[in-house]
Amino acid sequence: MTRDGAPGVAARGSTDITSDGQRTRHIPVLLSEVLESLAPTDGELYIDGTFGAGGYTRAILAAANCRVLALDRDITAIESAKPMCEEFADRFQLVLSPFSQLAEVAQDHSAMSVDGVVLDIGISSMQIDQPERGFSFQHDGPLDMRMSADGESAADFLNSAEEETIANVIYTYGEEHKSRSIARAIVRARTITPLSRTLELADVVSRVFHGRKIDGRHPATRTFQALRIYINDELGELAQALSAAEKILKPGGRLVVVSFHSLEDRIVKRFLTQRSGKEQRGSRHLPEQLIKSDAPSFRIINSRPLTPSKGELDLNPRARSARLRAAIRTDAPVHGLDLDDLEVPRPKS
Ligand SMILES: C[S@@+](CC[C@H](N)C(=O)[O-])C[C@H]1O[C@@H](n2cnc3c(N)ncnc32)[C@H](O)[C@@H]1O
Repeated sequence: MTRDGAPGVAARGSTDITSDGQRTRHIPVLLSEVLESLAPTDGELYIDGTFGAGGYTRAILAAANCRVLALDRDITAIESAKPMCEEFADRFQLVLSPFSQLAEVAQDHSAMSVDGVVLDIGISSMQIDQPERGFSFQHDGPLDMRMSADGESAADFLNSAEEETIANVIYTYGEEHKSRSIARAIVRARTITPLSRTLELADVVSRVFHGRKIDGRHPATRTFQALRIYINDELGELAQALSAAEKILKPGGRLVVVSFHSLEDRIVKRFLTQRSGKEQRGSRHLPEQLIKSDAPSFRIINSRPLTPSKGELDLNPRARSARLRAAIRTDAPVHGLDLDDLEVPRPKS
């Protein structure tokens, strides 16, 4: 089984499937690079903001006699971690929470000064593999797409939003040039019957492209990506998690972020560029001298992002878009968060 079970859908690791169809294990992406960048050390405390199948957490706990506080917003990830919680009871805690709440969770667990934060952004293979989660356009399931159980589902959104809002979401988060035609087709379809299944939506989008593949991928790839990002506010979550990490990392603490698509990587890059004093231009909202006078709160470890080795890609070709950026916290005060200044994309409303 490949990393996501559906071409073009952004899932991180790959899930091996045995010949009898059982899921065996999830292979985390860029694992050795994550460990090298995080450098786990005995006695230290790390936060894994995207527990998933626990691949990073397990490796961190194995690399040093350290502690890990992990988060995931998906209850199924939490439930499948019970054996691991027992195995590492004295060194590991797992919390059901979106990572935008990182600082609050850290405070609740007396972890306001941590040695490392790792984020592996996106969706897991397990989430894609389960048709009932509604992320895949290759398997029929309810049009859900929520990582956590609450909030608006993709069906709720598509059946109630204005055509222009749908188009803007698909354009902004899918970078889809046919967003207006797709939104029109969705609105036309829902006036006959409300959309409720993933394959219905995939079919509506596919017809806009007359069934043609786009760059070798299913024509609904970008639309599904856009809806998933919107429904889970993935980019807003990321920006808030980065800012929370800035608050809770101690001087010398490490921030390691693995992203999968360019919208995510741009935010991480911009965040670290701004906070490491490398930004050349002034902010759109603050006078240039104010930005320049902010002391760098991070020092970037690698000027270029790390990418998977050939060996990793041979094992897991869909890791090809993964990018790792890492930085070390300085002792400068936090810069605070301005979503506009970070240029977090927002659909026009
Ligand atoms: C790519 S997987 C992580 C895989 C993990 N590194 C491993 O080795 O098993 C991403 C996980 O992050 C979770 N996630 C995504 N966005 C989140 C958010 N905003 N807050 C908390 N968890 C999130 C997903 O539910 C998913 O389980």
